Amino acid sequence: MPNIKEMGSSPSLFFLNLGLAITPGRIFLSDRMIMKDKLVKIEEAAMQAVAEVVSEVELQQVKARFLGRKGEVTAIMKGMGQLSSEERPIIGALSNEVKDRLESAFSERQESLRQAFMKERLVTEQLDVTLPGRSQRQGYKHPITQVTEEVVEIFTALGFGVAEGPEVEKDFYNFEALNIPKDHPARDMQDTFYISEEVVLRTHTSPVQIRTMLEQPPPVRVIAPGTVYRRDSDITHSPMFHQVEGFLVDRKVTFGDLKGILTTFITEFFGQNIDVRFRPSFFPFTEPSAEVDIQCVICGGSGCRVCKQSGWLEILGSGMIDPEVFKSVDYDYELYSGFAFGMGIERIAMLKYGVNDLRLFFENDMRFLKQF
Ligand code: PHE
Repeated sequence: MPNIKEMGSSPSLFFLNLGLAITPGRIFLSDRMIMKDKLVKIEEAAMQAVAEVVSEVELQQVKARFLGRKGEVTAIMKGMGQLSSEERPIIGALSNEVKDRLESAFSERQESLRQAFMKERLVTEQLDVTLPGRSQRQGYKHPITQVTEEVVEIFTALGFGVAEGPEVEKDFYNFEALNIPKDHPARDMQDTFYISEEVVLRTHTSPVQIRTMLEQPPPVRVIAPGTVYRRDSDITHSPMFHQVEGFLVDRKVTFGDLKGILTTFITEFFGQNIDVRFRPSFFPFTEPSAEVDIQCVICGGSGCRVCKQSGWLEILGSGMIDPEVFKSVDYDYELYSGFAFGMGIERIAMLKYGVNDLRLFFENDMRFLKQF
């Protein structure tokens, strides 16, 4: 559509072609034509704006600009009152058509924007349902704790109570009351971490015997699990390790009771088929004394570096409580007798699970710990 300014050169022809009304006495560009022209331009502009929007918000703004209460098409429709009664229906119909076309253009565009948005979301929010799930890691007890609890369970079933003592211990409880005087060669059996002259890191759980017996009169039947320390480090020794002490004091307790209880424990813990031997030994606080060995489960008894080629592994020291010990806790050694034993937890854990290096328990490598 040419615009009005260009119409100057040959008005009559041009006006005729465009259907301008020529009323006698007055030539005017009909209001209808002006409005029709306006509508065409408005529609064009609206269509272009609709094509250019990139979001639904923008689309709403464009819609308001053209079809809103103060929109351009609305303005035309409001202006129809000035038209003559012949012109009004024509422009009315025309603006309705424009309005309809624009409305469907708006809703089409809205739909296409919505689809483009969904498509984009499908890409950006893509979820690979074939990925393996992230499992929650669950905590569990250290194998040494597990084994300690198992030992305690077996002994409590045999009627033993549980006692504990301090890891930083007085020289008196750790040595002297156990018949190991200061400067006695027996102290060489245990490489000790001294805190001071009178205080040590306990080298065994035996001081709990003393503490318990000082607290209660016989009969006693107690086990005492705990951490102990010695200056020792190789594949079967760690400077920090664990023991379970056990002792029983009553009238007429014999070495046979000791053998019976320990054999019962070993078969409960390791199963029926393990070989056990009681080997004469020496401890200052027991007399007679025996060390208990079990068949090396790493090599089956044929000899390996864990059992130092002997086929046997020592798991505990034991014996009948020495009267000297009863004297230091004020027990009547003529009336009472008893046995005691001290067992290495790491040792029996190694044997039960076939672990060939004790240090693995303390390296905290999850690949190792996870297996228990
Ligand atoms: N306390 C001894 C040790 O650690 C073991 C033991 C305990 C021996 C009780 C006899 C009686 O070597």
